[in-house]
Order: sequence, then C-alpha cells, then structure tokens
Amino acid sequence: MLHTKCYISNSVNLWQNHKLEALFSFSKTQNVFRNVTGLLLYNEGTFLQVLEGEIDDVETILSKIKKDDRHNQITIMMDQEISHRLFESYQSGMVFSDDEKELKKLKSRIQLPNASNYAKSLRAILHSFTIPQHSLSGYMV
Ligand SMILES: Cc1cc2nc3c(=O)[nH]c(=O)nc-3n(C[C@H](O)[C@H](O)[C@H](O)COP(=O)(O)O)c2cc1C
Repeated sequence: MLHTKCYISNSVNLWQNHKLEALFSFSKTQNVFRNVTGLLLYNEGTFLQVLEGEIDDVETILSKIKKDDRHNQITIMMDQEISHRLFESYQSGMVFSDDEKELKKLKSRIQLPNASNYAKSLRAILHSFTIPQHSLSGYMV
C-alpha cells in the first residue's frame, strides 16, 4: 500500500545554496533507489518535505532524517495511505525548491478543481509554508 508522510522542520543553521544543492542531489539519489518520490523545500530556515512510497521505504528514510542534527522541531503534517502518487511524473520523482519550473507545474496541478484529497491537503500545507512571516503579524495581535 502506498503511503505519504509530510513534515516541516527548523534548520539549525541558515543553508547556503551549495549546501542545499548537495542535500537535494543526495536525497534524489537515495530516494530513487527506494522508489520514494516527493518534495523537499527550504524557505528561510524552514524545511518542508513530502515522502511517498511503500510504507517501509518511507519509514526507513524518515527515521534517518529524524536523527539528522542539521534540523530539529520535526512536525508531521500528513501521515496517510494514498491511492496514487503526486510526484512520479516529475524528474526522478523529486521536486526541490530550486526548480521553479517543476514547482509551477506542481502548483497548477494541485490547484485543479478536481484535485484529489491528498492534493488538497498538500495545497493547504504549502499555502501556509509559503506565506511570508511578516504578512502573518497582522493576525497575531
Ligand atoms: C531536511 C532534510 C531532508 C533530508 N531528506 C532526505 C531524503 O529525502 N532522503 C535521504 O536519503 N536523506 C535525506 N536527508 C539526509 C538524512 O537525514 C541523512 O543524513 C542521510 O540519509 C544519511 O544517513 P546515513 O548516513 O545514516 O545513511 C535529509 C536531511 C535533511 C536535513
């Protein structure tokens, strides 16, 4: 059975582009090997990752990620069985925050009116992830 897990986490340090690129390329290689597809975004000190695949494969990768001391405060946003993958048609099955073309394709796909519940959940999570912090301050008084 296919499964998806999504988390957000805080990076311990601010990541520079070359470090992010190395992480993206490492993750891509490892995840292809386990047929795990998904998304890895970095935005101003916060990561958001989606992993989808067979439950054992997703859990194996996530257990390593949880032990990684380059980030903390890992919060699971989604943990559910799925009937289809959202990321298999993307290059190597992984979409990263440095690939604007793939991100645009993803955004337009999950905004379709007939998008699946899985896509709608991801849309809500992505929306909160990409709202700049300063625009939230008005609601926090
Ligand atoms: C935000 C973040 C996302 C990561 N995503 C993945 C991933 O998708 N796949 C992966 O194999 N490793 C990923 N890693 C790296 C793992 O945490 C870990 O360093 C790597 O799997 C090596 O583990 P090992 O030396 O025990 O094999 C990620 C690390 C961070 C900080």
